[in-house]
This record gives sequence, C-alpha cells and structure tokens, in this order.
Amino acid sequence: MTIPTELLSKIDDVITHYPVSKRSAVLPLLHLLQHHFGYITDEGITWVAAKLELEPMQVMEVVTFYPGFRQAAPGKFHIRVCRTLSCAMAGSFELMDNLCQLTGIDRSHTDHHHSIAVSPDGKFSIEFAECLASCGTAPVCMFNDDFFEGVSADKAKALVADYGSK
Ligand code: FES
Repeated sequence: MTIPTELLSKIDDVITHYPVSKRSAVLPLLHLLQHHFGYITDEGITWVAAKLELEPMQVMEVVTFYPGFRQAAPGKFHIRVCRTLSCAMAGSFELMDNLCQLTGIDRSHTDHHHSIAVSPDGKFSIEFAECLASCGTAPVCMFNDDFFEGVSADKAKALVADYGSK
C-alpha cells in the first residue's frame, strides 16, 4: 500500500491533535484512509497500527465495531440511502429496493459488519446510512459526494441512468 505524500501530511497533522496519546488518532486516521482508498484493507489496518504503536488487532476491533468502516471495495459510485425516521417514513426502504433493482445489486448477503453490496459490473455499491441531515426533504441519498433530496422512483431511475453513463 502506497500512501501519497499529501495524505501522509494530513495523517501526520491529525496525529499532532492528540499530544497526550497518538493512539487516540485511530478513528480519524481510519476515516482518512477510507476516504482516500474507498475502504480499509488488512494492509491499511497494519499500517495504522504501526503508525500509532498499536497492535493490529486493536485497530481491527475499531474497524469491525463501527459499521461506517468498509472492509470491501465499493463500486465506482457508492450510494448511501438514509434510513432514519423521516426518510424511512417517506419511503427510503422502497428507494433502496428500487435502486438495487435498477443497478442489479443483491443485498441479501449484507449484515452489520458487511454493510455494502456491489453491482455485478462493479459500477455501483450501496448501503444504508443514518440521518444525512436533510430530514425535511426526505427521502435522501448520496452518490459518492453528491447529495439528492426528495428522491422519487422516477428520480432514482434518472440518477442511475445518469451515473451509469459516466
Ligand atoms: S432522516 Fe433522512 S436525512 Fe434525516
């Protein structure tokens, strides 16, 4: 695993925010790695452990405890569907089913520790997310960093067609 210089600078800067114990930087470091690589590999876990003078098992425990960390590669476009109350009441579970059908994704093997599912062509992956802070425009979802509100069945279809052509 190669850590680009820019990412390494960010990591070293984050560690300075924890002068008492750099071990406390484990969460932000994992977030930085996931944001850059898309998921956390075994190699990434070993690297973070060495960087923070932790045992790899200690880092692994953090990764497996928080469902927000992914241990499998996402698709080119990673979709997050909010499932918290306002969105659930506005149809986010139907939206999830709809998006899975449109992208050919099978979520039957997902669980708490393996929350993402990937389309057969690797173009899309999907997972539920907790409140994305736009409850008044439910249901909402994200395609990578792009945010979409009031996602109807027609809008979902248009989004998959649009991103699928990229
Ligand atoms: S409940 Fe979905 S954005 Fe808050």
